[in-house]
Amino acid sequence: MNAIVTHGLTKVYRSQFGRTHGRSLDALDLEIGANEVFGFLGRNGAGKTTTIKILCSLLRPTSGEAFIHGENVRTRASRRLIGYLPENPYFYEYLTPRETIDFYGRLQGLSAAQRKTAWDTLGGLLDLHSISEERVRGFSKGMRQRLGFAVALVGDPQVVILDEPMSGLDPLGRRATRELILRLRDEGKTVFFSSHVLGDVQQICSKVGILVKGRLTSQGRIDELLTQRIQRVEVIADGLTAPAAETVAAGAESTRRSEAGHHFFYHDLDAANAAVRAIHAGGGSLVEFTPVRESLEDYFMHEQEKHS
Ligand SMILES: Nc1ncnc2c1ncn2[C@@H]1O[C@H](COP(=O)(O)OP(=O)(O)OP(=O)(O)O)[C@@H](O)[C@H]1O
Ligand SMILES: [Mg+2]
Repeated sequence: MNAIVTHGLTKVYRSQFGRTHGRSLDALDLEIGANEVFGFLGRNGAGKTTTIKILCSLLRPTSGEAFIHGENVRTRASRRLIGYLPENPYFYEYLTPRETIDFYGRLQGLSAAQRKTAWDTLGGLLDLHSISEERVRGFSKGMRQRLGFAVALVGDPQVVILDEPMSGLDPLGRRATRELILRLRDEGKTVFFSSHVLGDVQQICSKVGILVKGRLTSQGRIDELLTQRIQRVEVIADGLTAPAAETVAAGAESTRRSEAGHHFFYHDLDAANAAVRAIHAGGGSLVEFTPVRESLEDYFMHEQEKHS
């Protein structure tokens, strides 16, 4: 059974006076298998948080339905399956991280022993033990983010939903977050997260969905979405005489010089390989040979242009 399914999810926000703001979410159909790491992408205002709030039953859709492991998101059963990190996690400022975890453990009906285990495990995983006795009031953005992630994992939820878990984190924190997401996957959990950091998404997600102005424009496995086609090949050579460089440049799309040597850009591998032979024949040496493939960022930009 799929971990997350939505059918025709649509959200129209209404103001106090009944005026509508257009469709913030438009007929969203998602299907995310169990044990998948799903990256949810879209520009500011695309509808990511709206979708996440509907999945967590914090917001009612105008129409459409959503299910977590077959349970309608409006039921308590679905909420028990979910751990949620909000976009801007809110805490009781006078509590310490240990008390915060304990508080959420109580809300979920965990015993004292289970709450202690939760603190030991999550405090370790998110590096909170060193600040266990400090009040949240003095916490930086990144510390709050880590505590929010720990709260999301209280009760060992099967489906972890994270609204921009990387936001505000330094490079070490981002790496730790990526590793934690992969660890959750290895434990058999499903992770659904929104992000603007496309490099992180490309590294850890098995599937992605791209929202443009409330509409899902593409959904699928990253390796299938990206053509994996080589877009061009950059060859850098050193020690070429001017006539030899001219010969190598003959089949190139463009060239330039740098400290590293002569750079040649080719459309395909065959032309680049021919260039390597010409470089050696001309008495030069190869410094770099780099095929450039389409990245998730290229794909994302292309989707924005196509649908705007
Ligand atoms: N409470 C609200 N009332 C009215 N409009 C809202 C409300 N919340 C969100 N919207 C609108 O819905 C659209 C989608 O917003 P949402 O917060 O889901 O975007 P997002 O993809 O999470 O963006 P970001 O990357 O900035 O977090 C936006 O146009 C936003 O203005
Ligand atoms: Mg958002």
